[in-house]
Amino acid sequence: MSNYLTDLQYPARFHREHAPLWLASVLTALGLRAPEGRLSCGEIGCGPGFGLLALAAANPDMSFHGWDLNPEHIARARDVAARASLTNIRFDVADIEQLSPHPVDVLLCHGLYSWVGASTRAAIAAFAGHSLKPGGVFLLHYMTLPGGAAFQAFHALFAALPRSSERIANGLNRLKALQESGAGFFALHPHATGTLESLTREDPAYVAHDYLTPEFHPLAVADVIAAMEAEGLEHVGSATPLENIDALSLPAQTQNLIAQEADLPLRETMKDIARNQALRLDLYMKKPRRLSAGDHLEALRRQTFSALPGAPSSGSLTFSTRIGAVEGPREIFSPLLSRLATGPATGAELEQFVPQPGLLNQAMQMLLWSGIAHPTRKIGDTAPARRFNRLMMSFSLQGTQVPALVAPSLGSALPPAGPQEALNRLCLL
Ligand SMILES: C[S@@+](CC[C@H](N)C(=O)[O-])C[C@H]1O[C@@H](n2cnc3c(N)ncnc32)[C@H](O)[C@@H]1O
Repeated sequence: MSNYLTDLQYPARFHREHAPLWLASVLTALGLRAPEGRLSCGEIGCGPGFGLLALAAANPDMSFHGWDLNPEHIARARDVAARASLTNIRFDVADIEQLSPHPVDVLLCHGLYSWVGASTRAAIAAFAGHSLKPGGVFLLHYMTLPGGAAFQAFHALFAALPRSSERIANGLNRLKALQESGAGFFALHPHATGTLESLTREDPAYVAHDYLTPEFHPLAVADVIAAMEAEGLEHVGSATPLENIDALSLPAQTQNLIAQEADLPLRETMKDIARNQALRLDLYMKKPRRLSAGDHLEALRRQTFSALPGAPSSGSLTFSTRIGAVEGPREIFSPLLSRLATGPATGAELEQFVPQPGLLNQAMQMLLWSGIAHPTRKIGDTAPARRFNRLMMSFSLQGTQVPALVAPSLGSALPPAGPQEALNRLCLL
């Protein structure tokens, strides 16, 4: 029986890493055959469904299915699907512990695994193992050790507060007061200060789902890998491109030490310690197919990338990473940026600026991660995207916050911010 919070609705969110095209780009970069074609995608614990609805509007050739415990979330999601006349998506009220497998190519689970008890975690792993088609990918988001463990202290403080409608504000105010008074916890965990600041800017309902739900479990990556392996799922990497590039995401002196470790769960555990990782966005696959060197090169050459609104058109880049600022050399990035500023380009075209395939692959993954470029697909039927965006703009005029507008050429959605002209073009406004 689930004890997950149901009396406060989760706000609408969009996660760029959920887009099948994003996942395909990351898997291709890793040398894996990404699921392709008319994909079926599912999300366990989809909340009010915004992310899945936006993906359905952006990818009318694919089908989407969301499940959530909370009937009010599902009612909201169904209402938007009906009002935007999206015919490639369905939502069902379901507790994952009671849900039968459903064949999918892409499965998403974000904001759930660390916030439920062991039996629900086991049900999520079993559902993923039984539902994924061979070659399919499962994106699993969870809090990890050691960085995530610090937030158990936040959870404990919220749990100790008396139940009231002011519990979130009361908790955040106390944590802020402790931080400002020099509490030892914040001295030992500097990253907790940044998280606290971002929580104070968040919708209280978001904070409630993070900290008022009774279960709160930062997990060891090795345990998660073992749980997935027991269901026939193999850990293949991260949906966060930067984290697949050790040279740019691990402190320099730890890189050799970690590279020498042959055992995957131990290596991933060491990476978490090296990065003081708090959250993971892991990718698991059922029967992953590794590309031969020739097929990998071909797949990289076939990809098309576009610049995103606000992308620089030349110069060097500085990437702000967990291990500090990483310089993106001008001689690599400037020609790529200049070419992308003129329109979409294939991997094959970009090879003339950076002829070393490995280097180009990493550079494009860094542009993806930093929000400068995005993989692009041929646009099919744009009517669902236009209907969805029109509906979102009417919500926005009524004062509802809209996290993203659909950009069908990206198979994804973009925050409604940044240079208007580029946004209008990509979102067909
Ligand atoms: C934090 S929200 C995340 C929503 C969405 N995945 C996102 O990332 O924007 C977690 C969702 O999981 C749902 N949930 C919790 N326990 C569940 C269960 N046992 N089965 C299905 N859904 C569940 C909650 O109702 C809630 O909507």
